Amino acid sequence: MIAKVANIKSEVEAYVFDENQKAETFRLLYLSKKGIITELFEEFKKAPVEEKRTLGGVLNGLKQLAEAKYQEQKEKESENSEGDLVAHDITLPVYQTNEGALHPLRIVEDRLLEIFYSLGFDLSEGPEIEDDYHNFGALNFAEDHPARDMQDTFFITEHVLRTHTSSVQVREMEKGKLPLRLVMPGRVYRNEAVSSRSNCFFHQIEGLYIDKGVSFADLKQTLYYFVQQFFGEGTKVRFRSSYFPFTEPSAEMDIWAGVDTEENRRLTKGTGWLEVLGCGMVHPNVLKSCDIDPSIYTGFAFGMGIDRITMLKYGITDIRDLFVNDVRMLKQFAGI
Ligand code: PHE
Repeated sequence: MIAKVANIKSEVEAYVFDENQKAETFRLLYLSKKGIITELFEEFKKAPVEEKRTLGGVLNGLKQLAEAKYQEQKEKESENSEGDLVAHDITLPVYQTNEGALHPLRIVEDRLLEIFYSLGFDLSEGPEIEDDYHNFGALNFAEDHPARDMQDTFFITEHVLRTHTSSVQVREMEKGKLPLRLVMPGRVYRNEAVSSRSNCFFHQIEGLYIDKGVSFADLKQTLYYFVQQFFGEGTKVRFRSSYFPFTEPSAEMDIWAGVDTEENRRLTKGTGWLEVLGCGMVHPNVLKSCDIDPSIYTGFAFGMGIDRITMLKYGITDIRDLFVNDVRMLKQFAGI
């Protein structure tokens, strides 16, 4: 075996690198798992003890020689490839790449969902074409009650385009599985004149929590947490009493934007407060119409406009900018 090792040693010494015989070819031939030298070591294990004594040193010497030769060549090759780079013409124009961006509404919806998921809410979605019962009736809007005027509707024969995501609450409560802790995002429609502040469709996210012993304090704490997460630690909130047919008591929640800048004054009409959402305790009549016993279960609900929050967050002043899909506008959200 000594003779064999000596032979391979002179072979390694004589090895000449060129275009076809690069460092990697050499490594594969001698040093890789199935390489000649590695195999010699396998053979060595089976050699007689006396032979092993001298053979060990010779074999190690061979391995070191081959490794040094390999390293040296590898370094040469990498220096050469750096040379190649310098040789490229760096004044050539680059290829134009167009990076895609998420739509700002998608960015904000994802963030909202993430916050409510972290509180244990699950996702649910419902149809945009609704019947009168799910959009109004089950939500305690009496026939011909003026509250229906708050949400002027588009009709499709017997159906309506839903005016809010509260219809999804009803669909979930009807399923008869309690407790419920859900967020329900989606597109809603209202028959309104289009302007910088209102559009005939927009997006809402609804929240619903029904269980035994859910209180207004739970509602406040949930929304307070949401505001700190979304608008930043220390954001002040206030609850103003309000009216919705499907909640009692009802409130609107505002966040403090301040009156220190022209922008604040314009957005808040000088009050410093910005309205963010509507909320309240689910009205007993709503629970009853979904076969839930209001003497056992209570719950809260809230709903907010995703478009409105997006406009606040990114300083977008015209709601229509969210729907025109002007690439120059959308591009600004790449990487956010
Ligand atoms: N659905 C109401 C709206 O569109 C918002 C809301 C949802 C209010 C849930 C209270 C509870 O104006």
